Amino acid sequence: MLWMAKWPGPWPVYVDVAGGSHFTCADGIDHVDLCLGDTGAMCGHAPPESVKAISEQLARGSTTMLPTADAAIAASLLEERFGVPSWQFSLSATDANRALIRYARQVTGRPKILVIDHCYHGTVDEAYATLDESGQVIERRGNIGAPVPPALTTAVVPFNDIPAMDAALSTREIAAVLIEPALTNIGIVLPDPGWHDAVRDLCDRTGTILIIDETHTLSAGPGGMIARDGLRPDAVVVGKSIGGGIPAGAYGMTAEFATSVRDSLVLEDIDVGGVGGTLAGNALSLAGIRATLSQVLTASAFDSMIDRSTEWTDGVQTLIDEFGAPWQVTQLGARAEYSFRETAPHDGAEAADADDFELQQFLHLHALNRGILITPFHNMALMSPATTSADVARHTAAFRSALQALF
Ligand SMILES: Cc1ncc(COP(=O)(O)O)c(C=O)c1O
Repeated sequence: MLWMAKWPGPWPVYVDVAGGSHFTCADGIDHVDLCLGDTGAMCGHAPPESVKAISEQLARGSTTMLPTADAAIAASLLEERFGVPSWQFSLSATDANRALIRYARQVTGRPKILVIDHCYHGTVDEAYATLDESGQVIERRGNIGAPVPPALTTAVVPFNDIPAMDAALSTREIAAVLIEPALTNIGIVLPDPGWHDAVRDLCDRTGTILIIDETHTLSAGPGGMIARDGLRPDAVVVGKSIGGGIPAGAYGMTAEFATSVRDSLVLEDIDVGGVGGTLAGNALSLAGIRATLSQVLTASAFDSMIDRSTEWTDGVQTLIDEFGAPWQVTQLGARAEYSFRETAPHDGAEAADADDFELQQFLHLHALNRGILITPFHNMALMSPATTSADVARHTAAFRSALQALF
């Protein structure tokens, strides 16, 4: 996979076996895994409850293009967590976002999507847009083979900028606002108090669908930031870890949005409408979601994940202070990230300006050489239910030696 070229060092580490919060590479070396497949394994590697349910289902047939009983149970588990009742399934969070964008265009009849500057929502064409220095929408750097100039499909506003969101939505060209409730893909950027309420109000006032993508921010707790902070989206996206390691994405809608979608569809054309995939909602994904949500990523598991993350954050902060590094660290539940600036960033551009690819490669390679994997493209660590205080302490010791080398 293309991105594997970006891991530090001349070649990626090849994995022999992964279990819990560790993996062993092909050379037999044990690693603490703080990347966890960039959230795909936030449930820990090979959680026994998920493995059991998925293995049993594998023996009972994995793909019939029909629902199993797990589908309704998985949907109700997701409803309990995120508060919206109508769910469909995909194989990835990317595809969940794509489906909701289509539905939002379909029911509003509007052409554009609004995203946040320096967002990431998977390989969704509309979201590969950013702002240039004069505030114009341009392709994000590195975008491969864009279908059309993104300004045709997308409006972009900075995170935490209510007047910019107001101006963009007032055009009534925007079908949906697609946001992470905190940015997690350009470092962690937390919302200002009141920002979410303002976004909700603006969407209500302008008839815009509000999609909250909780793929990463699920780290905030069992129901992500939606449950933790009482957010009120029209649609929700989750993915990555929810299948316990089996590809699975899900998107949920309020009854009102789901009814508008349903009323706008024609049964005869439903298979060629551009939403869905042959293996989406397959029996393995659904068995994985049911077991993982009910038995692995439980409320008590989140308590322990968040405690480990607090230990990690405290360890990093103490060393930043001790060495006088001009860096900051931000925690979002079970994930935390440091960046090369002194204060927490307020929007994506501030976070992006602090990026230093060479320094990041050094820190990642330094950690890797000490048996610790941190998330590539970031300075981020994620905790699973299996992560221990000893795992965290191993990172803190390695981070000390990295700072010793640098300062
Ligand atoms: C917020 C968010 N949404 C969606 C995705 C896409 O996930 P996937 O690559 O599994 O489709 C990502 C991936 O990093 C993400 O961070």
